[in-house]
Amino acid sequence: MAQPHVLILGPPGAGKGTQSSNIAETFGVEHVTTGDALRGNKDMDISDMDTEYDTPREYMEAGDLVPDAVVNAIVDEALSQADGFVLDGYPRNMDQAEELADMTDLDVVLSLEVSRDELVDRLTGRRVCDDCGANFHVEFEPPEEEGVCDECGGELIQRDDDNEESVNNRLDVFDDNTAPVIDHYRGDDAFVEIDGEQTPDEVWADIEAAIEEQT
Ligand code: AP5
Repeated sequence: MAQPHVLILGPPGAGKGTQSSNIAETFGVEHVTTGDALRGNKDMDISDMDTEYDTPREYMEAGDLVPDAVVNAIVDEALSQADGFVLDGYPRNMDQAEELADMTDLDVVLSLEVSRDELVDRLTGRRVCDDCGANFHVEFEPPEEEGVCDECGGELIQRDDDNEESVNNRLDVFDDNTAPVIDHYRGDDAFVEIDGEQTPDEVWADIEAAIEEQT
């Protein structure tokens, strides 16, 4: 059977990155994430795309969306090279959802549901490994040694956009642009709502069961 095509949706801090790693490892699919792709290319020159800023950095640090043309090209390229995938961070508005419909089909659309207060706590307390990208949280998922990655021993840092001002803007951008995308998928047979406020292990158990049932 072909590898599953999984889309994971949810607001910033819902656990998309955390759970996408589990999906990629367990189901042997590519983790396609626009956030990581853009963070790895923050200073690429996008001035020829007639954008407000010349690089993705300015948009990301403010918590605004990077222009569609930049992101669509990243996803198109990544999906054309993947057999199965878990797509994380895209689509974030209805124009991107229409682009995605032209690129591929989807077997499972997961929507992680988490309240706004919990999201602010998760994002402002998140720490990521500067070397391998593993996710931790100072309170909910602390590393064994403060500031050091359990996986590879790398340094744990706070993302530039995990300060309170950017976090609140990202959540507003989600409400205005991405919540309608989730409503758009809600009626599909592939759509599964997941309670993202459970422990990470409980969320994972629901996700694994949903993917097995849908594929
Ligand atoms: P991106 O990197 O995609 O960030 P995001 O959507 O804001 O999502 P996050 O990575 O912040 O959260 P997550 O849901 O992955 O949660 P995580 O698992 O880390 O995008 C960044 C920026 O890039 C955007 O603002 C935009 O500028 C640009 N961009 C990206 N895609 C774009 C697009 N398509 N179009 C235009 N621009 C785009 O978990 C968060 C924390 O909570 C962690 O500390 C974790 O340990 C903890 N945690 C996870 N699960 C649980 C749980 N169940 N209980 C308790 N704690 C938990």
